[in-house]
Amino acid sequence: MEYQAKELFAKHEVPVLPGSVVETADAARAAAAEIGGQVVVKAQVKTGGRGKAGGVKLAENPDEAAEKAGAILGMDIKGHTVHRVLVTQASDIDQEYYVSYLLDRANRTYLAMASVEGGMEIEQLAVERPEALARIPVDAIAGVDAAKAAEIADAAGFPADVRDQVVDILQKLWTVFTSEDATLVEVNPLVKTPDGKVVALDGKVSLDDNAEFRHEEHAQFEDKAAADPLEARAKEKDLNYVKLSGEVGIIGNGAGLVMSTLDVVAYAGEEFAVDGHSVKPANFLDIGGGASAEVMANGLEIILSDAEVKSVFVNVFGGITACDAVANGIVHAFELLESRGDQVTKPLVVRLDGNNAEEGRRILSEFAAKAPEGLIEQVDTMDGAARRAAELAAAK
Ligand SMILES: Nc1ncnc2c1ncn2[C@@H]1O[C@H](COP(=O)(O)OP(=O)(O)OP(=O)(O)O)[C@@H](O)[C@H]1O
Ligand SMILES: [Mg+2]
Repeated sequence: MEYQAKELFAKHEVPVLPGSVVETADAARAAAAEIGGQVVVKAQVKTGGRGKAGGVKLAENPDEAAEKAGAILGMDIKGHTVHRVLVTQASDIDQEYYVSYLLDRANRTYLAMASVEGGMEIEQLAVERPEALARIPVDAIAGVDAAKAAEIADAAGFPADVRDQVVDILQKLWTVFTSEDATLVEVNPLVKTPDGKVVALDGKVSLDDNAEFRHEEHAQFEDKAAADPLEARAKEKDLNYVKLSGEVGIIGNGAGLVMSTLDVVAYAGEEFAVDGHSVKPANFLDIGGGASAEVMANGLEIILSDAEVKSVFVNVFGGITACDAVANGIVHAFELLESRGDQVTKPLVVRLDGNNAEEGRRILSEFAAKAPEGLIEQVDTMDGAARRAAELAAAK
């Protein structure tokens, strides 16, 4: 969020304006009184286009700040509910610029982007007049020194009166980008005030989760309130789970297999309907290589507690982990769930193939024979199993 991005900016001496983040209108009043003069009240949500959505408002005095905060708090911006607003000093603006660093996957390098025509229309500018947005590749090893920063500033056409400040800020933003392990650092707008100072009025930073282990202090940035509760629970259990909006719960081993399982279920689901739309996958869940009973139980527990799930498709291709081990994992998972007081009632369709598939299927058949009628079914092919799971979901 903007206020968190600005904390990182301030830490690395990128100029920002004073402000504080609050959760109530009264607190906004107090914050505005402390800052003094005009303030801007800004929705703090992890999405762009806040200004256009009415989430950024100028207030002349503390009472007005409270009123504006009251209107913005609780607002929905592109599906994100506003729980916090930033009350920050208002700035007079002479010019709005744009600068960013990001990971350019297509070119396998980093990219700096800069424009002297920043502000809320930057996306439109990039499409309509791409020449007005300078794009300069940045070598990961060489990084951004004074000369590179000057190259970026000059490519964007920053005028002489702000060039030195921009060159300095570009180097500091590069420090934010590298030392915080970010994949995106964006300032829009970077402004020139009437007295010629350059300040970051907005900020957006995406941090690389893979570097979490060396940034304990980044844990504070996680927005627990906004996270999906099932995803939060899955994360606690180290599961690779993403909630989707459909009815067929999915468990598979390997991200590639799970991705194609989602496609196959969505395709099979077109034949069936629930509430007037076709049946769709309810989640992504990759239980990885060594599908132990505990991982399987945790996965099943998360998926079964999703009220939208009507059936579950377990799609496993035995490789290093053989199918008999996976089958035993499923059996133990049922026992584990039962011992935790969670009775499994939603039908499970299992497709086992690959290493030791026959033994795996035998173990499951034996178990299914003892389980309640129709609770566990095995289908030998991925397409067939997807179709059956979609059919069961529609029948529920
Ligand atoms: N502190 C401030 N003082 C004066 N004007 C401001 C201030 N903060 C923002 N503005 C004005 O509001 C506009 C929108 O603000 P901001 O860039 O923070 O939000 P946004 O761009 O709409 O949101 P997002 O970056 O999420 O798309 C800015 O371009 C600027 O003109
Ligand atoms: Mg902005």
